[in-house]
Amino acid sequence: MRAHLVVLGTQWGDEGKGKVVHLLGKRADWIVRYQGGNNAGHTVVFDGRFFILHLIPSGILLPGKRCVIGNGVVVDPEALREEVRFLEARGIRLRGRLYVSLAAHVILPYHRWIDQIQERTGVHLGTTQKGIGPAYADKVARIGIRVADYLEPTLFQRLLHNNLRDKYPMLKGLGSLSGMEKKIFRAYPGLRRFLSSCAADTTALLQRADRRGERILFESAQGALLDVDHGTYPFVTSSNPGAAAASVGTGVAPQRIAEVLGVVKAFTTRVGTGPFPTQMPDPLASYIREKGKEYGATTGRPRRIGWLDLVVVQSAVATNGIRRLALTKLDVLSGIHPLKMCVAYRHRGKLLKRFPASRTVQQELEPVYEHCPGFAESIRQVRRWRELPEAARRFVDRIERHTGVPVTLVSMGRSREETLVRTTGFQWL
Ligand code: GDP
Ligand code: IMO
Ligand code: MG
Repeated sequence: MRAHLVVLGTQWGDEGKGKVVHLLGKRADWIVRYQGGNNAGHTVVFDGRFFILHLIPSGILLPGKRCVIGNGVVVDPEALREEVRFLEARGIRLRGRLYVSLAAHVILPYHRWIDQIQERTGVHLGTTQKGIGPAYADKVARIGIRVADYLEPTLFQRLLHNNLRDKYPMLKGLGSLSGMEKKIFRAYPGLRRFLSSCAADTTALLQRADRRGERILFESAQGALLDVDHGTYPFVTSSNPGAAAASVGTGVAPQRIAEVLGVVKAFTTRVGTGPFPTQMPDPLASYIREKGKEYGATTGRPRRIGWLDLVVVQSAVATNGIRRLALTKLDVLSGIHPLKMCVAYRHRGKLLKRFPASRTVQQELEPVYEHCPGFAESIRQVRRWRELPEAARRFVDRIERHTGVPVTLVSMGRSREETLVRTTGFQWL
């Protein structure tokens, strides 16, 4: 039996997972999202076309591939319908190849409202305000509404009523309880019809696919440092982007997942608040932001920019069993000299090799940098390792040395073609 692959981000998201999944997805039969929701924004550029996927796996852009939104995902029915319409209007055929788990939890308008209110009045995390945190909170509190529940009108009505009643003290500034209920109910019949057309027992589908020897690519959203358990808590998302969650979030047994590939950007970015030891000041940050088009694919917010932080990448490698890396956006660093990479932190005279748990200490870290020579020339046309400028090769070599895993892919542009395949023996290429 063949084993499956997880593709995940090793930093704070937006590493270029969409591009990598689109590239490797050719060898997959199924492409599966297992956590997160439409807080994700995965960009795919091919044949002069440009797409941003939020909830639907990036593999949907590969003709004939089947895609699953697993039980670990939180699904906003309105956002999903909009995304399906957007894709169909651009000639992407989805019929019969998109399945949404009956056990996935739904995001309802009140989750979005609560997310917005909490951002204003609680700890300001800089969330995407898509209702992700409040929906996962309900799931864990066992008052969540799953797709299966949503499809049963009487049950849905009761659950909705109870939840709105309990949450009303927080929402009362937005209008009357019955007004809110009516608003949600007005949209419900159409959304229910839509969701029932793609809802399925996806665990059974994937387990059958696994038994038949079909290949599954698990597409993570967000990044290792946004993981609610292993990230920079509380400045994280409310799910586990980590590889272990691929099993929990789909029902495919953990030992069937043999390959884990981490996507690492040649520098670091972060949207939203939270510690970011290698964040760099302007004018270099603005230069990289403009050159790399570093604006949120979901919210349009400017991303914070920093040097490559190998302590962060190393922790992602260890926690997720990453065996290969795909390095993206190396092209953006051309013309910058010297290049820096963080290999440890200093805190009050002490050298730290790991990201500390204390949020106070996290805010006070001083990065310890290694300097590397920069490269002046544009590398976007390079397709072979030997054609890369020596300084660029040394930059990649250092990443391998510090993380202990090979860089299998080097991406030098947005489109599929702008990629250098470095090592062979990877069965997904
Ligand atoms: P994701 O969330 O991990 O899929 O990443 P995003 O799509 O949010 O952000 C990555 C951005 O970088 C997108 O605009 C991609 O088109 C772009 N991108 C990906 N790889 C490369 C690359 O190697 N070079 C350049 N210049 N842009 C890239
Ligand atoms: P992709 O899949 C980058 C960040 C938000 C915020 C924090 C919590 O495109 O890499 P949430 O709305 O999830 O409760 O917000 O997480 N965040 C992301 N940052 N890329 C993402 O997804 C993100 N999804 C959430 O900015 O800091
Ligand atoms: Mg993104």
